[in-house]
Amino acid sequence: MSDAEPKGALSNPVATREYLDGLKGADLLSWRTAPFPGRPSASERGFDMPLPFGWFVMCYSDELGAGQVKALRYFGRDLALWRGADGQVRMLDAYCRHLGANMSFGGRVHGNLLECPFHAWRYDGAGIVQEIPYAKIIPPQARRECVRHWPMAEKNRFVWAWYHPRGIAPLWEVEEFPESVSRDWTEYEKHEWLVYCPLQTTAENGVDVAHFRYIHGTASYPEWQTRIDGHRREACVNAKMETPRGTVDGKISYGVIGPGQPWTRFTGICETLLVSGCTPVEQDVLHLRFAFTQQRSDANGARAGVARAIIKDICRQLDQDKVVWDRQRHTAQPLLCDGDGPIAAFRDFFRQFYAEWQQDQAPAHAVRT
Ligand code: FES
Ligand SMILES: [Fe+2]
Repeated sequence: MSDAEPKGALSNPVATREYLDGLKGADLLSWRTAPFPGRPSASERGFDMPLPFGWFVMCYSDELGAGQVKALRYFGRDLALWRGADGQVRMLDAYCRHLGANMSFGGRVHGNLLECPFHAWRYDGAGIVQEIPYAKIIPPQARRECVRHWPMAEKNRFVWAWYHPRGIAPLWEVEEFPESVSRDWTEYEKHEWLVYCPLQTTAENGVDVAHFRYIHGTASYPEWQTRIDGHRREACVNAKMETPRGTVDGKISYGVIGPGQPWTRFTGICETLLVSGCTPVEQDVLHLRFAFTQQRSDANGARAGVARAIIKDICRQLDQDKVVWDRQRHTAQPLLCDGDGPIAAFRDFFRQFYAEWQQDQAPAHAVRT
């Protein structure tokens, strides 16, 4: 569409605004994580890609105290996450190797071990049965790492798990953001969504420059400077930001470490760091978390209104994207035009995280399930 297109021919931005205008307050919040029954199957929507490997957020650190067990469902699996008396987080597939009880439901922490609710077999974080209170001898098979084991990390006030379909050990580390633990920056403001598409679809959004105008109603098409370096991708843009006080020049830098650790920094009006988590639940379901932290001097000072407006606007943009993502299909060979962003380059970058599509990657150690 050119600037010369007659105004008034469209509601602008198109249907997303109309759809979201009908959702306010509690309705909007529950819509963000509501189930979406009756959607077409993943294969009908062309989602034939595997789950990407990498580090993914399991929960916020403050959601799991010492001695607590949390039931999770990610990567198409039921999982049991716990924090031992030593403060360390550990995770196993939820089903007990004895008679198959789901250990995330009623299981409890015994020291640093996870105790199954059914017959009290006690597992360490490598899936080895360390204790069976009523047995004289632990079966040798139970002494082996026979359950998939999950490398864990805790950084930026999140609990992370490394997912790799072939059990390859972590190929990079979760990176730390000093702001996320600084006293000069605010506590996280947390937001979350369930989005009904694969991670690749949401990640592609950042390079899809044309949609910013049509879905998000920006005044122009942002021009991102992108840099790709192995498993890291970074981009920055000088952007005009809409604020209650009008349009302001700002700078946005964006990056992603592997597929699962995106971050965004907003500078210029109010220093803001957005730490994101995007964790696959199933092939066509993604759990997105946004954690915002801002410099206290901005968030509590004269710029408090702008600080709030930035967060509100970013969440609004995610809402707008979700309306499309929930219904989008994957077009493996899209028809692109010269005004589109570097979508093909993005897809080449993202493909490196699909282990099933790489024949040359030998497993570091076998996973026995
Ligand atoms: S099923 Fe877990 S201890 Fe028996
Ligand atoms: Fe978007």
